[in-house]
Amino acid sequence: MASWWQDAVVYQIYPRSFQDTNGDGTGDLAGVARRLDHLAELGAAAFWLSPVYPSPLADFGYDISAYTAIDTVFGDLDEFDALIAAAHERGIRVLMDLVPSHTSIEHPWFREHPDWYIWAPGDGPPNRWTSAFGGSAWSRDPGSGRWYLHSFFPEQADLDWRNPEVHDAMARVMRFWLDRGVDGFRIDALDRVMKDRLLRDDPPAREPFGLPLRGDEEQLQLIHSRNDPDIVQALAVMRAAAGDALLVGEVYLRSALVKPYLEYLDTAFAFELYQSPWQADALRGAITRTLAAGAFAWVLSNHDFPRLVTRYGAENAASAALILLTLPGLAFVYAGDEIGMPDGPGVQPPLDRAGRDSHRHPMQWEPGALGGFTTGTPWLPLINAPGVSVAEQEADDDSLLGLYRRLIALRPLLGTSLEMLDSDPAVVAYRRGDYVVAINAGLVPVSSPATGEVIIATRPAALAPNGKLAANAAVITQA
Ligand code: GLC
Ligand code: CA
Repeated sequence: MASWWQDAVVYQIYPRSFQDTNGDGTGDLAGVARRLDHLAELGAAAFWLSPVYPSPLADFGYDISAYTAIDTVFGDLDEFDALIAAAHERGIRVLMDLVPSHTSIEHPWFREHPDWYIWAPGDGPPNRWTSAFGGSAWSRDPGSGRWYLHSFFPEQADLDWRNPEVHDAMARVMRFWLDRGVDGFRIDALDRVMKDRLLRDDPPAREPFGLPLRGDEEQLQLIHSRNDPDIVQALAVMRAAAGDALLVGEVYLRSALVKPYLEYLDTAFAFELYQSPWQADALRGAITRTLAAGAFAWVLSNHDFPRLVTRYGAENAASAALILLTLPGLAFVYAGDEIGMPDGPGVQPPLDRAGRDSHRHPMQWEPGALGGFTTGTPWLPLINAPGVSVAEQEADDDSLLGLYRRLIALRPLLGTSLEMLDSDPAVVAYRRGDYVVAINAGLVPVSSPATGEVIIATRPAALAPNGKLAANAAVITQA
């Protein structure tokens, strides 16, 4: 039986930046509830809420100090329940962000259950593992004088998933939210959930990692500091707790290596396509390798990496949307992408120490410096780029927002199969059921396999009478 999420579009909400309702400049749960119509009109089947738990904000919510509560800046559990009810009333499902690999060092567990964390056996770092954000992955806990592992910021201590008490604790967390009615989880940093039992150093690299890395991690074969083969044990625990709720994994590895994770997860983000340059051969290769590796969720923007408009250029935003929304399986749309929000300038001094402020600017509901986001001082300024707002694009069927809506409405008609089609080197083309999708990633018009009636085009006259597909254009045709 097909599940609700088979070809669903999931809308990623970064709650600080979505909609403020009390004028404090930070988005909140009531704001999400207020904007559910936008999701419904887009055709989103669900939304993923980036963390809304209490957090000291070293990593803007990914450093959690209580797993079963709502940070007061966002609201409270009653408002959370009301949001779920309002979403479900509209047939919209809700995914929480589960962060099982680490807690904030301010989580009471860090003091009360030190054996739930990973400690160096001696006095000092036992290896040269580095944190994802640079520097050693080991820090000294001033309280105990011992050294603990942190795959991310020093404020994010890694849990020890070799301790069965951690299994029980995290399963309880999952059940807490499932009992409140959530429909699944996006699971954070899964490739870091378990590391080498012997804490061995990573050997020198023998082949490229396949995805961009920070610092000099390219030099290493990252087999001990992450992606431990025992991770499947942790996944089994999470699957057992989740029942048949949707589990979407953030596994930052090339597609082929994600395969074992998919034994337990329903799907995982397709980072190879996300990180592909805008070149037809690279895009084609990423899609083909990912489809061969299993059931992936397509995604081209999130709160961690530059937005698609910034990576690919505004001239390719519509074509990128067409790829994202015509591949088989789940697709994730990061709030703001549907109106073509680019990265912004961030703020000085930066808030995020890992330099990701520019991907997290508030949603532009209307033109203007406050953009319909807040009546107060926004926690990050709005970008306010000309024409890039929901209000302006809603009034115009030919807008990017109009295109997103049409593409999402077409998805159920595309079937489940995908056949790559031979085409000009500048073109990505594939068949989906009765439809042919073609994207010209090049700078000159070229022939493509897309003939017949144009169902959706990224711009007027995308397909010339002589059958050539315009530069920076994409179409869906039906034979
Ligand atoms: C994931 C999150 C990112 C966070 C990191 C540590 O990659 O998407 O925002 O910093 O995990 O939790
Ligand atoms: Ca607020």
